[in-house]
Amino acid sequence: MKRQNLVVVGGGSTYTLGMIMSLIEEKKNFPLKSITFYDINEERQEKIAKATEVILREKYPELDSFHYTTDKKEAYTNADFAFVQIRTGGLQMREKDEQIPLKYDAVGQETCGPGGMAYGLRSIGDMINVVNDIREYAPNAWILNYTNPAAIVAEALRREFPHDDKILNICDMPAAIMVSYAKILGKEIWDLVPEYFGLNHFGWFTNIYDKQGNRLTDDIKRAITDNGFIPEDSEIVNDPSWIKTFKQVETMLNDFPDYLPNTYLQYYLYPSDMVAKEEMTNTRARQVINGREKRVHTMSDQIIKDQSTENVELEVDIHGCYMIRVAASLAYNNGDTFIVIVENNGLISNLQSDAMVEVPAALTSRGPKPYAVGEIPTFQKGLIEGQLAFEKLVVDAWYERDYNKLLQALTLNRAVVDAPKARQILDDLIEVNKDYWPELKQLQPVQG
Ligand code: G6P
Ligand code: MN
Repeated sequence: MKRQNLVVVGGGSTYTLGMIMSLIEEKKNFPLKSITFYDINEERQEKIAKATEVILREKYPELDSFHYTTDKKEAYTNADFAFVQIRTGGLQMREKDEQIPLKYDAVGQETCGPGGMAYGLRSIGDMINVVNDIREYAPNAWILNYTNPAAIVAEALRREFPHDDKILNICDMPAAIMVSYAKILGKEIWDLVPEYFGLNHFGWFTNIYDKQGNRLTDDIKRAITDNGFIPEDSEIVNDPSWIKTFKQVETMLNDFPDYLPNTYLQYYLYPSDMVAKEEMTNTRARQVINGREKRVHTMSDQIIKDQSTENVELEVDIHGCYMIRVAASLAYNNGDTFIVIVENNGLISNLQSDAMVEVPAALTSRGPKPYAVGEIPTFQKGLIEGQLAFEKLVVDAWYERDYNKLLQALTLNRAVVDAPKARQILDDLIEVNKDYWPELKQLQPVQG
């Protein structure tokens, strides 16, 4: 097996140490020659990188080299794979995305509704630059992109790089949900074969099978209705916010029993409940700053001080392993099935072909070979089309610098609906995103 050169873009992320542990766990499936971290924030990356050096020295002696840099050329030259996980504006801006809509009793969320729009408008330009930079130095590298909001980013990359067939956008939520199904069934996630359709953070499992072809869907539904649903992946298992989110799946399944919903549908199906649950001064970004970020930084300090991992508890999480097996399937032509984001092109036959949809695909060295979905029912189709129009309008607005399209987008979004509310939220978001968004032009109403 050819060993791979991997660059992690956004090396300073709070997810990086988890990813490193997953790379160690999966070294047989995805053997590495080198790991490089790239980040624009030197200081933030350095702490994570210094801890990573110690971890790799202990647990990955086969690796030829590890280094970290803020220099693009150094980072990307010779890369076979780039894992891209950037967050333009950081958790500070995530907090604003969550708080501003809440002021107007609309859902305040990282990737859904107005928060997702704001984050999307910050991410698009940076993501395009990252892809251009990688292509300058590593024209053949696989780019696996986890940057959020994945739906909007994927649509922008589709438009910007229509002929680049080595960019794959991917989200870990379906995998995180499947870990919980596997636990219910007493199986491992790798034993399950999903049937799934939708947009990113906006989809449904229509069926779950095992590798022998047995349909397990009803067993899962029954277990959820009888015993509830909880997160199981180590990254989220004890997190009160994720526990609440998984609990909401039971409610969704009671109201809409036909399919197993992605957890993110809660924001669109129960927006008032979601708003009512929120505390303005402790939205998810604040919880992550005080929780995961602190934990990861404290752990890194300890590892650096001890020059050993003996006094910390490092855990492998499935979401990292899932991403790595995706990469392995592309690198070694395994043809394994994963849920990824691809252009529709008739997969969902009653949905426009230029939608970026989330569906299962066999991953080969020639890229994803998605499975056809066929026609989807009216309820899901209606919801998807509204959300898709929102996503498309946001990307249009970014390219055209168009205020009016953003107003349309927010008015269409189920997390907002009301045009006056949409305008207030939009105006506030423009104010705080001055350093990140393009300057927008507003069409004036016809006078007299
Ligand atoms: C899931 C989603 C990601 C999202 C993350 C937020 O993993 O798939 O797209 O960024 O949750 O989790 P957090 O713990 O930061 O709220
Ligand atoms: Mn996601």
